[in-house]
Amino acid sequence: MFKNILTNSLSKQILRTNHSRIISTNQISFIYRSFSIYQPVWHGHLKTPKPGEELKVTFIEKDGNQKTFDVAEGETLLDIAQGHNLDMEGACGGSCACSTCHVIVDPDYYDAIPEPEDDENDMLDLAYGLTETSRLGCQVKMKKDIDGIRVALPQMTRNVSSNDLK
Ligand code: FES
Repeated sequence: MFKNILTNSLSKQILRTNHSRIISTNQISFIYRSFSIYQPVWHGHLKTPKPGEELKVTFIEKDGNQKTFDVAEGETLLDIAQGHNLDMEGACGGSCACSTCHVIVDPDYYDAIPEPEDDENDMLDLAYGLTETSRLGCQVKMKKDIDGIRVALPQMTRNVSSNDLK
């Protein structure tokens, strides 16, 4: 449809100018070039867990409310929280460069999570209200060993600024 309208429009223009303007087929194909729309991938998107493979995670919000979700293996606590509109900022987008995804893990589950890497420990050192079981939500992935994990969102978070690193 659009192609026909454009062709008619070009034909009229060529006629109007008495063939003084020559449009090559390359120019026309440039005009006709289609464009694509990609499915946007929003930060915080979540996979749907396969039936029977759901893992449970409970977030305790700042006001004490508890919310439990069924999630798929491999999801990070950051993605789960953001996917359910919980108050977890994740300022660096999960690249372990801030501490705004700080969570306090229930001690019953803490040892089942793989040890934090040095990058995570460095950022945790700057987290507000650090505890013995603090972790960064973007670095904790759901797996069977921590099915049923409970994490609390701290009352405040603190982002890192260049001044902190001087
Ligand atoms: S989102 Fe920045 S460290 Fe986790």
